[in-house]
Order: sequence, then C-alpha cells, then structure tokens
Amino acid sequence: MQINDAWLDGVRVNLTVERGVITALTTGPAPTSGRPPDALEGGVLCPPLAEPHCHLDAALLGRRAPNRSGTLVEGIRNWSALREGLTHDDVRERALETLRWYASWGCTRVRTHVDTGSLVAAEALIALRDEVARGLPGLTRVDPLTGEAMPVPIELQIVAFPQEGILRAPGRREAWETIASLGCDAVGAIPHFERTTEEGWRSVRLAFDLAERLGAAVDLHCDETDDPGSRNLEVVCAEAIDRDMGEHVIAGHCTAMHSYPDPYAAKVAALVAEARVQVVANPLDNIVLQGRYSGYPRRRGLTRVDELWAAGATVGIGHDSVMDPWYPLGTANLVDAASMLVHAGHLTGLDQMDRVFRTLSRENHRAFGSTPELAVGQPADLCWYPAHDALDVLRTRPRPRVFVGGLELKRA
Ligand code: FE2
Repeated sequence: MQINDAWLDGVRVNLTVERGVITALTTGPAPTSGRPPDALEGGVLCPPLAEPHCHLDAALLGRRAPNRSGTLVEGIRNWSALREGLTHDDVRERALETLRWYASWGCTRVRTHVDTGSLVAAEALIALRDEVARGLPGLTRVDPLTGEAMPVPIELQIVAFPQEGILRAPGRREAWETIASLGCDAVGAIPHFERTTEEGWRSVRLAFDLAERLGAAVDLHCDETDDPGSRNLEVVCAEAIDRDMGEHVIAGHCTAMHSYPDPYAAKVAALVAEARVQVVANPLDNIVLQGRYSGYPRRRGLTRVDELWAAGATVGIGHDSVMDPWYPLGTANLVDAASMLVHAGHLTGLDQMDRVFRTLSRENHRAFGSTPELAVGQPADLCWYPAHDALDVLRTRPRPRVFVGGLELKRA
C-alpha cells in the first residue's frame, strides 16, 4: 500500500505500508518509480478518530419517539418513557449500527455513557464492549492477497451516567453504584441537575470517591446549562488536583462557562489546565439545546474552547447524540461536530481549524490512554480523506477511506 503527496499535520508526506505496518514515511517528492497502480495520491491523512462522548443506549431512538418541540425538556420526557421498554437486543442492535457508522467515518474508539436508570442497557453495553473488542459484527477488512476476511476490533468504554441525578430521589445513588461496579470504565455524574448547589458539589465528590474505590476514571456531564451560577467545574478541578487524578478526569459540556463573567471564566480555565482535566465540548447538541431560555441575542451555549486552549487546557470534541431523544440529527461523523465547533465557536482562524481537525485524532484519544501516531514501525491504522487539506475536510466532510492494519474497512 502506498500513499503519495498526502497532507499529514500540515506536511506533505509519502507513506508506505507492508504487511500492515508503516515501513516508510517521507517528506518531499513522491517516489517516481515503482508506484503501485492502486496508490492513493494527494488527500489528507490522519490516525483513526476517537469519540470521547456519546450515548449508545439512546442512539437511533429519535425516530421512535420524535422530539416535536426540539427541547431538552421533551427529550428527557421521551427518554424516560422509552427507557422502560428497552430490551437487551434492542440496545445491542442500535449500538452496533451506530458503531458501524462511527467506524465507517474512521472512528474505532468510542466512549459511551449509559443511563444508570436502566440495568438492561448497562448490561447490554458491557457485554457489547467485550464482543466488539474481538470484532464489530457487520464490518470486515479483506486481505487482497489471500482473500481472508479479518475482524475490525472496536475499543468501547462505558461511563456509568446517572441521567436523573444521584441525590435527587431515593434509589438513584444505589443504582448508579451498582452499575458502576459492574465494570464500567468511568464514573459519571450530573451535578448541575441535582436539587441544590451543595448537592451538586456533593455528587462530584461522591463520583470521585466511587471512581477511586473502583479504580475507574471520572467523566461528568458538568454544568450543561446556561446558568452562570452553575459552578461545578471548579469543584471537579479541585478534587482532581487534591487526589492527583486529573489525567483520568473528563468534564463534558461545561456550557455554563459560556455565560460566566469573564474574570471567573479566566480563573476556571486556568484551573482546568492546572488540574489536567480534559473538557469535552459537544457542539452539535449544545448549539440547539442551550439558549432555550434566551430571547435575542441568543446564547450559543458552547464552552469557551479558544480560552481553554489559551490557558493550556486539553479539549476534546464529542458528537454526543446520534438521532436520539435529545438530538434528532447526527451521522456519527465526528467531522460534523468539528465543523459545528468551528462555526459556532468562532474558530475559523487557519491554525484554529487545523487544531480542531487534529483534535479528533489526537486529544480525543486521551480517555483511552494512548494517542496513535503515524510513524515507521506502527500499524497502518489510518484515515485517508479525498480532500485538498484539513480545512477542506471540515468544509466538505467527505467519507474517508479507513484502514486498520493496512486493510480497508468494508461492510460485511
Ligand atoms: Fe452527553
């Protein structure tokens, strides 16, 4: 396999793959002799993408119960009704189909939240994690020399997410602890949704306590509101610092930061960087779910990505919903989320767009403990976009050709 004159991180490169491994990576003119007829010319290269934040238990349910008002409130109401009727097979099939979509867009690592209000969904996704680690059903890669079909492994992580809070009603804390203890990779919380500010802070500490006890990571829905008084992120950072856990902590959404007074936002951004907590923005959901209490001018409701970058913080980009009760749109293409962030976050500087695109295949991997690099000696796991450059990928959002171990992914 040969790829010539492709952009990789702003540099033109030529890449050679033999027996699934990258054996040459050069800059400068492409080799003029010995080019295989199926060599890819031009385009944009990157490692596989990673999804740090989605909800496979609810994915694809948006058609079954349309959210007619398009609001968060109706989404929560619809989900509560749907959740009661979930079955193992239904959760499995929808999650599998969504994972196939992700993989077809170049994403082979996915961290999903699961609502701890449904033991059925949690057990289904935990079983699925082991299954897809061996290979994603319905997707394959074929060795052109031998014709042998090989599995496509997917790394799935699961967050025990108390959608309706931990302390709001009897039984919720117990259900959350039970499901987290089934072997979830991370412990979630939703502090801004608890009854009081104090209970929100308490829920953050309970999540850290439980994660420490289980040896799990922490991944919170944090301050997903337009309320500038929602100040849980600073508590998350303080706990991460005091417990030296920052590398294993994600704070998702953090949309209240959009509405914080500037001096306070500056303090929190610095704290996020110091704590080494990763903020994951979810621009597709939040551009439509936030601002619902605004007249005009209407809030955009995204976290402050430019200011977090300037403070030295690590930011990830999630797709979040895929056709679910909260967000009826979505394709599982992370480039869609990146494109929305570029637009709604005022990140159209050339370096900013490069950084946003790069985030999908770099910072987005942080939850998985390692970041893939295209380098000699590494497996040829990569995406190749038919586009002029990274900006053009964001502009046209083309379907990439996806390779795992040098073999291209195909629907089985
Ligand atoms: Fe979410």
